[in-house]
Amino acid sequence: MKAFAIDAYKAPLKLRELPEPVARAGEVIVSIEAASVNPIDVKVASGAFKAILPYDMPLVLGHDLAGIVTAVGPGVSHAKVGDAVIACAGGDGIGTFAERIAIAETDIAKKPSNLDMTEAASLPLVALTAWQVLVERAQIKPGQRILIHAGSGGVGTVAIQLAKHLGAYVATTVSTSNVELARSLGADVIIDYLMESFDHIMTDYDVVLHTLDDKVLERSLRVLKPGGKLISISGPPDPAFAKAIGANWIVRQILKLTSAGIRRKARQQGIDYSFLFMRSDGGQLAEIARLAEAGIIRPVIDQVFAFEDAPAALDRSASGRARGKIVVRGHGSALRPEA
Ligand SMILES: NC(=O)c1ccc[n+]([C@@H]2O[C@H](COP(=O)([O-])OP(=O)(O)OC[C@H]3O[C@@H](n4cnc5c(N)ncnc54)[C@H](OP(=O)(O)O)[C@@H]3O)[C@@H](O)[C@H]2O)c1
Repeated sequence: MKAFAIDAYKAPLKLRELPEPVARAGEVIVSIEAASVNPIDVKVASGAFKAILPYDMPLVLGHDLAGIVTAVGPGVSHAKVGDAVIACAGGDGIGTFAERIAIAETDIAKKPSNLDMTEAASLPLVALTAWQVLVERAQIKPGQRILIHAGSGGVGTVAIQLAKHLGAYVATTVSTSNVELARSLGADVIIDYLMESFDHIMTDYDVVLHTLDDKVLERSLRVLKPGGKLISISGPPDPAFAKAIGANWIVRQILKLTSAGIRRKARQQGIDYSFLFMRSDGGQLAEIARLAEAGIIRPVIDQVFAFEDAPAALDRSASGRARGKIVVRGHGSALRPEA
């Protein structure tokens, strides 16, 4: 089958012919119709995560997919051939910039029936991230105040909608050209970061979802009240994360040191700092699919690239300017246009 893979970290992404995937126990084969791009794909390719997420080469990039189940392995209990599904490939099985993938049945969910393959593929990784931050970690309650940074990004566009659904009062940071987008997603307070400093305006927030750099992370402490939660998905990883991934002693010490400053400053203000790294979860994805079917979460698509232009799609993600999600589609030898 055709797949976009790298031979080594920092090597160019190349279209290659790779062996067909085989479904092991508990896995299904999905014929991929669309895959969305995430900043993690660029980071994985650069080797940024090699100490904590070692991958074998050649490595097929891409986490998110929408497609059709074409075969089921032994012990698969619910999925059937012909099911339209979405998934975020987990574990060491990443590789959705490919015609087909073998993926655990526990990672997939039915595709929302009201979304096409492009829209459906845009959701899994960012929506699971938003779910795990807002529902699991922050345990958002109606009326709580949350600041979501980069409301126009892949995570931000979904997190705003999910936080509103959970009854939160939602503030977000965007640039001037994305103010209307943030409004249309339901944000209550929109800070144009080119014109205003969020930390000069906002106080007494319960939660900040941090997606940006270390400077914004530190400034975010100022908007939280004592007892508030600063949840970062863009680093620095903390000791709890190191423990959760079973990191070795050296990696644990490095992560302890690199997060020491923000953990100390947060502690001094009575704020809980934590880093979250999302995981695949078909059960949560099914909940998200239901919200999409109910029109509560609407995908925001930045740009759609043909499968053969996957490297350009990655470059677009690396620009850091995507407005919503970048999707690659037309996988498969037919390289078919949008269904
Ligand atoms: N830990 C995890 O499990 C996890 C999961 C998902 C994502 N992440 C990380 O979270 C980060 C965000 O992911 P993403 O998918 O949302 O990224 P993305 O879609 O690439 O984000 C791009 C958006 O960020 C906005 N932006 C850039 N600088 C900004 C600033 N200073 N203030 C406000 N908005 C700004 C851009 O808007 P303008 O062009 O208008 O500036 C653009 O719309 C990435 O670092 C990603 O690797 C981590």
